[in-house]
Formats: sequence, structure tokens, C-alpha cells
Amino acid sequence: MPVSAGPKPVEPPSVEPTPVEPPSVDPDRNGAEPGAEALRPHAEHAFAAELAALAAQDDRPRPARWRLSPWAVATYLLGGTLPDGTVITPKYVGPRRIVEVAVTTLATDRALLLLGVPGTAKTWVSEHLAAAVSGDSTLLVQGTAGTPEEAIRYGWNYAQLLAHGPSRDALVPGPVMRAMADGMTARVEELTRIPADVQDTLITILSEKILPIPELGQEVQAVRGFNLIATANDRDRGVNELSSALRRRFNTVVLPLPETAEAEVEIVSRRVDEIGRSLDLPSVPDGIDEIRRVVTVFRELRDGLTSDGRTKVKSPSGTLSTAEAISVVTGGLALAAHFGDGVLRSGDVAAGILGAVVRDPAADRVIWQEYLETVVRERDGWKDFYRACREVSA
Ligand SMILES: Nc1ncnc2c1ncn2[C@@H]1O[C@H](COP(=O)(O)OP(=O)(O)OP(=O)(O)O)[C@@H](O)[C@H]1O
Ligand SMILES: [Mg+2]
Repeated sequence: MPVSAGPKPVEPPSVEPTPVEPPSVDPDRNGAEPGAEALRPHAEHAFAAELAALAAQDDRPRPARWRLSPWAVATYLLGGTLPDGTVITPKYVGPRRIVEVAVTTLATDRALLLLGVPGTAKTWVSEHLAAAVSGDSTLLVQGTAGTPEEAIRYGWNYAQLLAHGPSRDALVPGPVMRAMADGMTARVEELTRIPADVQDTLITILSEKILPIPELGQEVQAVRGFNLIATANDRDRGVNELSSALRRRFNTVVLPLPETAEAEVEIVSRRVDEIGRSLDLPSVPDGIDEIRRVVTVFRELRDGLTSDGRTKVKSPSGTLSTAEAISVVTGGLALAAHFGDGVLRSGDVAAGILGAVVRDPAADRVIWQEYLETVVRERDGWKDFYRACREVSA
């Protein structure tokens, strides 16, 4: 503070504590780089260099307020090499057409619904799409059974509201409203967990592209560039159906489970490597055999059939998704790093596999034991794994 000439200020009492720097509350500024120290940076920060390289070399037409052309957005998701040699890592491993349809949908007046069984990268794809299209993946509404209409529309700053009555200043816009006003991509996670009447709030937004504010006799009109990506799980029981009126406003894209074991192994190793690096865990190449084994076990139990197509097995109640395989391997790597010699071995993944497979302690345990004795025990090169599984199952 500049020293002012004037009456000498009264000496403050010596016990006055020195003020402590308030903690930085700006989520983007708690490190040198935006989000650099975050445990899990947003996609637009984690892949800022790739997005910038794409934007610099992208000469195709961009829809209004898009950071990239649809072609560049698809390249960002699927990976590729740019003319100047910049390598874009694949984020989504799956059919190219699915990504093309998803990206194209966002450039139309229909919203995008990503549907699929758990762990098929719906949330992941939605985040990366928003990051590539709008440069911001944080305009997000998390759907739960308790999501109120205000979470989708707007809320009020009650102090302001009581002091001055309803006004634009007292209004606290929700993520969707902000996306509409700025022509950005909004995201709604787990749409079908939201009660049906609250879901219907989206109908006017998606068909009329307006959000009325009856308290003020005003409305917010969506600016060009606005669109919405919703995700929904088609396996959740007891959740709310999507009304047909709302479903018609969406273009539905179903994300499949990885088609081949190799594709799934690639997804798991890539993600484990990324997560492991952020946790300072050993690198994956040492563990590729165990990854292959986890993926094989998950796929066989999921499909109810061994990979050679010869033996039928029973499927347990859990979903055994790719996402769970990623968790099992990451957990195993942490075990190997902290309590082993840093190399991923059977003993490190066995407990994780058991936890993922045996969800229902009675029925699933029987299924697991049967699989262990009829399939795992007989398989060449799986002795260590069999022993490790027996040990943790005992
Ligand atoms: N085909 C895929 N390509 C790339 N990553 C994938 C793929 N399938 C799954 N993953 C990985 O699986 C993890 C979990 O995905 P995500 O959370 O997006 O699943 P989800 O479909 O939203 O699941 P849920 O229905 O439980 O919400 C992510 O880390 C993602 O990278
Ligand atoms: Mg999800």
C-alpha cells in the first residue's frame, strides 16, 4: 500500500496477528500452469498443447464459436499425426464413425445423447468433446435423483433477492444457462437419474433454444454455438426413463464395449499409464502380461464364454467394464510399487479382480470359484495367477 503523508497512524497493538495469505480459491490458479497441480486436470488443460496445435493447423470451416472444425475435433478424439508432425494421442479407442456422428450432431440443432453400459467412456468422450469444441468442459450438471430444476436452469443469491427483489443481479445462472448465453457446450451427466419432471426442463431449452425466467419476465436465448451433451447408462435399474418428447430432441449415439481383446488391452494400458504417471507409479510395459490377463478374465466372464470359444462360463452380477479393469490394474501397480519390486505380477492384480468379480458374496463367489477351477487352473502359463487367486479367495 502506498505510504500517505498525513497524520501518523496509531501504532497497532503488537499482538495483532499478521494476516495470513488467503488460500487461492481460483480452481485454475493454484499452480503455475492452469490446473497443473490438480490431481485430475480438465481435458482442456491436460491436452492444451494438442488442442493448440490442432487449432493452429486446422484450416477447415468451423461452426459458429467452435474452437476447431468438426474434422479436427474428431482427430483430437481419435488421434493422428498433423502435417507438421505433431502427434495427437487417441483419447477414444473405437469405431471412427461413432465419433464422426457424435461430432457432427453437435454442429446441428439436435443435442447429443451418449448411451451405453457402464464404463464405456461416455463421460470421458463427453468431456473431451466439450473441451475440443468449446475449450471448456466444466459447464456440467451432475444428474442424481435429487437434481433440482435450479441445477439446470438458475438459482438465486438469496441475500440479493431479499435486499433488492428479483433482478438479473440476484440470479445465479446454472451451467446450461451459461452455455446458452455464451454459445458453448453444456454437459449433463447421468440424465436418466434425474426425475422425469426435472428432465423435462430441457425440452424448451433444446427445442425452442430459450430458457424463460418468469420471475423477471425475461428469457435467455441460446447463442449460436450452444449445444448439449448428455450421458446415460442403459444398465441402471430403477432409474427414470427418458420421456419420448425429450428423446426426440437428442441424437443418440451408443458407445459399445471394446470389440476385441487387443483394443481393450490398448485402452487399459494407455489409461493406466496416464493415471500411473500422475501418481508416480512405475510404467506399464513391465505389466503388459498382467493387463492382458485382467482383460481376458473380464471379457470371458462378461461374455460367458472363454476366449477360444470352447467353454461356457457363468457371468457374475458386476459389469466388469473396461473402467473397472483400469482400476484393478492401477491398484495392482500401486501395490507393486509400494510393497513389491515395482513389477506388476499376478499377486498384485488378484485381489482387485476378486473385488470386481465378487459383488454378491454368495452367488458371485460360486461363479468365481467355478471359473478359477475349470478355466484358470487348466490354462498354460497361468499357474502363478491361479495360485495368487486361490490365496486371496481363501
Ligand atoms: N473405448 C474407450 N476408449 C478410451 N478409453 C476408454 C474406452 N472405454 C473405456 N475407457 C476408459 O474407461 C474409463 C471410464 O470411462 P467413463 O467414466 O467415461 O465411463 P462411463 O461410460 O461414463 O461409465 P458410467 O456409466 O459408469 O458413468 C475412462 O478412463 C476411459 O478412458
Ligand atoms: Mg459416466
